Amino acid sequence: MNRQDFPSDFIWGSATASYQVEGAAFEDGKGASIWNEFEKLPGAIADNASGDVSCDQYHRYKEDVALMRDMGLKVYRFSMAWSRIFPEGGGKLNPKGMDYYKRLCDELHDNGLEPWITFYHWDLPQALQERFGGWRSRECAKYFADYVAAAAGELKGRCDHYFTFNEFLGSTDQGYFNGVCAPGLRLSRKERNQVRHNALYAHGLGLQVLRDVLPGAKVGIAENPVFFTPVIDTPEHVAAAKKAFREVNGHFITAIMEGGYPESYLAAEGADAPVVGDGDFKLIGAPMDFLGLNIYYGRLIRSAPELPEQYEIFYDDASTVWSDCNGMFQPAAVYWGSRIASELWKPEAIIISENGTSCEDRPARDGEVYDLFRVKYLRAYMESMSRAIRDGVPVKGYFHWSFLDNLEWGSGYRRRFGLYFVNYRTGERIPKLSAKWFKELIQTCKIV
Ligand code: NOJ
Repeated sequence: MNRQDFPSDFIWGSATASYQVEGAAFEDGKGASIWNEFEKLPGAIADNASGDVSCDQYHRYKEDVALMRDMGLKVYRFSMAWSRIFPEGGGKLNPKGMDYYKRLCDELHDNGLEPWITFYHWDLPQALQERFGGWRSRECAKYFADYVAAAAGELKGRCDHYFTFNEFLGSTDQGYFNGVCAPGLRLSRKERNQVRHNALYAHGLGLQVLRDVLPGAKVGIAENPVFFTPVIDTPEHVAAAKKAFREVNGHFITAIMEGGYPESYLAAEGADAPVVGDGDFKLIGAPMDFLGLNIYYGRLIRSAPELPEQYEIFYDDASTVWSDCNGMFQPAAVYWGSRIASELWKPEAIIISENGTSCEDRPARDGEVYDLFRVKYLRAYMESMSRAIRDGVPVKGYFHWSFLDNLEWGSGYRRRFGLYFVNYRTGERIPKLSAKWFKELIQTCKIV
């Protein structure tokens, strides 16, 4: 059969983040990040693991890029460790740290891949946490803009695609309100809302300086809003899913896409609503070239005219199958998530900037890793993505989380998300069954 499930120019990639894969935590002049500090707290990370070595991609990047080439990947999405480039958060640039990212970009190009770089994937320089309280202060956003301007200038000619931020929640609510991520604080709701706003402001400033420094570059965010799947595909339930998507995500994605907080968010927060500076939303709401969505799962929702918000979210439904550890097996989230975002805001392009699952992977007796669940997961999620494309949703790329097993934040090394298995004792990488499946997918553009 000649059918293709994806266009031949579809952008196939995979994603990682600096703290999760690099290791070399203090090498070549790198400063501490808030995660290098947070990991010292007993129990903050499962098994009290640290990112000091991790996958050691800092030293093994050539090997990893060769594996990416063999898989046929077109793109590698990775993040830069801000404190590698500015050990103190600002001031003097550390050329050795910057050089690593230049070499990585060059290696990717030499192997036929494009780098897509994330500026901020949660590892704030510790110096800025100590100096200003991190994202509690607007100062931090200004330092972010300086970092972006300097690093982007250094990367001129080497990288054309950037994400300002990855998942706002992980560096705002989870770091400053729930305390499960660095810096591990539990602040008030009002302070949390300000932290959220300061991060949005940083995104806006970062976007502006990128436009100045690299006018030809394509820029977006990688965000993980709460996604909704209508219980059945009828107009009233679809409308309910859209309304909820806009309102429930009012503090991040809606604020960015609409250039302001929706009334529902401001009303719900009342006196705790953030202080917004003059002109903030002109920056925050500036147009982007693509919208990156990290889609893992979604909640089922129904239209509920009898309720004040007019929808009801199902938090516990029998149709939900829990995957190993990281959430739910809900392939429909990709279709509905991308379709609803597209209908609401008409972004030029949507990139599924992350999707994947952790499994209890381990080598079998023959040395292979048979991650059967991940293959099943991928098949189903790819069907859902293909359906979105058929229906005209502008999904242009898919970046699998993750290329290789890595440090899964508070869960340490227990959760394995990779297409490649990593033996953390030896550093060896072993392709899982899913890596072979994904290679076939890329080669044929068919769900095999
Ligand atoms: C979200 C984050 O961006 C990434 O860092 C994390 O490891 C994956 N999803 C899996 O939880």
